[in-house]
Amino acid sequence: MRPFEQHWQTYMSEFINVGIIGLGVMGQRMLARLDSHPRLRATHVWDADPQTVARTLATYPRLMPAANAESLIATAGLASLYIATPPAPHMALSNLAFDAKLAVFCEKPLTVDFDSARQTIERIEREAHRAAVNFSLASSPGLAALDAAWQERPAGFLGEPQKVSIEIAFAAWPRPWQAAAGAWLSERTEGGFTREVLSHFVFVLQRVLGRAVVRSSSPVYPSDGHSAETALTALLEASGIPIEVTARVGGDVDDSNRLTLRGDAGEIELREWFGAYRRREGAFWDTIGDPAELRARGQVDQLTQWVALVEGRPHSLPGFAESLAVQVTIEALLAGA
Ligand SMILES: NC(=O)c1ccc[n+]([C@@H]2O[C@H](COP(=O)([O-])OP(=O)(O)OC[C@H]3O[C@@H](n4cnc5c(N)ncnc54)[C@H](O)[C@@H]3O)[C@@H](O)[C@H]2O)c1
Repeated sequence: MRPFEQHWQTYMSEFINVGIIGLGVMGQRMLARLDSHPRLRATHVWDADPQTVARTLATYPRLMPAANAESLIATAGLASLYIATPPAPHMALSNLAFDAKLAVFCEKPLTVDFDSARQTIERIEREAHRAAVNFSLASSPGLAALDAAWQERPAGFLGEPQKVSIEIAFAAWPRPWQAAAGAWLSERTEGGFTREVLSHFVFVLQRVLGRAVVRSSSPVYPSDGHSAETALTALLEASGIPIEVTARVGGDVDDSNRLTLRGDAGEIELREWFGAYRRREGAFWDTIGDPAELRARGQVDQLTQWVALVEGRPHSLPGFAESLAVQVTIEALLAGA
């Protein structure tokens, strides 16, 4: 083999071919992120809506459309499947991908079908499949800072941890950037802000403090019997620390969120997704980094972790079992207690 051919072969084998099922809001965001990635390369796509496929191909003409989910998953040379459909098909698509020995990166929420999730998790463990769920804060510097502060307790920045509060609010649900998403997002069966947004913070909380128990929860639902919740107040507990949740559709900010961990010496706060701040008792807030830069770092690292998942190396993405544990807490909040 000539040196050029050898180099070309190595270069080509460095690509990790990714198939994408679900080309709505998240599918498009991921396509844009993968477009410039040096290793992960979207090659094949499928969506249940042919018009969505057509629009996607108009933007990315080199993508190959599949005839259906099964044929996409069976494509030779594919290494990983990204699932960005609404929750209902997540488990069936994951299992098809495991049949084909693909590494699965699935959107949250994992599922609302717990039996199917438990069977899938048993299969992952039995057959050693590679699977992770996209909680975007998993790779965030804010989560790393929160975890470091928690690990140092009762010394370090926080001192003795006292309480956590999570506050989220939306001027309207769904949020403006999700206007093109399906009706499922506003429906009680699969959608709502508790599954969609609060789950990110419950993930952070449970990763750092451990499994949370719901002490009380009061979701407010519209009287039509099918629309998603409009407010939720709850009290949880993890590692002996009380966690207060206040969430609602209301106010004039499109998407407002904060998780604060307070100790007797200081507090640390994740704010507006990737923003991270801390302050000593009685002092001013100090940012851990420029929020835009923290976001960019988190998003780059997410893809780095995905590569590690595909290559069977250790990574920081949440697996299906960790994500099911988040969903168990979320569904308990939605059920009310
Ligand atoms: N990680 C995050 O930050 C984040 C943010 C927003 C949404 N999400 C999650 O991403 C997933 C998708 O959300 P979205 O906002 O993109 O929704 P969306 O409604 O915009 O898009 C879903 C797409 O899936 C397609 N689809 C539906 N059922 C299908 C099936 N069985 N097979 C193939 N295609 C199918 C629809 O036609 C649609 O194009 C959800 O699980 C959502 O909770 C994650």
